[in-house]
Amino acid sequence: MERFTVLDTILDCHVEGQGQPLLLVHGFPLDHTIWEQQVRVLSDQYQVLAPDLRGFGGSLRGTAPFTIQQFAADLSDLVQQIVGLQPVAFCGLSMGGYIAWEFYRACREQVSHLILCGTKAQRDASSTARARRLLARSVKHKGVSELAQSMSRRLVSTEWQQAQPDAFQSLQDCIQRARPQSVVDALGAMAERSDATELLATIECPALVIVGEQDIITTVDEMKSVASRIKKGEWVTIPHAGHLAPLENPDSVNRALRAFLS
Ligand code: MLT
Repeated sequence: MERFTVLDTILDCHVEGQGQPLLLVHGFPLDHTIWEQQVRVLSDQYQVLAPDLRGFGGSLRGTAPFTIQQFAADLSDLVQQIVGLQPVAFCGLSMGGYIAWEFYRACREQVSHLILCGTKAQRDASSTARARRLLARSVKHKGVSELAQSMSRRLVSTEWQQAQPDAFQSLQDCIQRARPQSVVDALGAMAERSDATELLATIECPALVIVGEQDIITTVDEMKSVASRIKKGEWVTIPHAGHLAPLENPDSVNRALRAFLS
């Protein structure tokens, strides 16, 4: 891991390989380790950047309030420090995809390709935002243990949980390591995020939408509809995978990424 001073904070980022830059942005409430199989395999052809967002993994939280725009601003600065003005392929998983929309909105000249894994363009419905605030209150008082149990089961397919018990345990450990205050603040950031539906028609770069066929958080139909609104949008369904397709079926996801980027 390398450390970078970024705006008001310090971010950890795994940087590996040489070639076209590929930025991998993790979801909530995870860290860069979710991309292990992409970093290991794709760094033979790409310069892979897998950061921890502010407040997650080894990255410090800084002083600025957590917003999706703030995460995007952090990444814009980080990417410039690592690759200069060269555009990156921005690959965001779930909350990482919410950040991708804001990154594209703010600095599209820094983006060569967009890759959206299991992510939504609409902002939260008021019931979802309310549920996030309740969850934040529970995490604030009781910590992240309950969340690690309940959320991990929703993130991945039952098939994968049963087939890969050690990897499933590592996923729960990853959530368990999340700092409660960062979890609370990220829930607030997601609940307050802007709607990106209107942005979709203005996206000019090639975009790939990836969805696990057993994803219960962002469904195949929702993701198809996101892809169909982007001019150069394509989509791929990943078999034997839920919401965390890059973790659950890395071979298929890596193949799809290489095919799209070439
Ligand atoms: C994620 O995986 O980042 C979350 O499921 C996103 C969300 O809760 O909307």
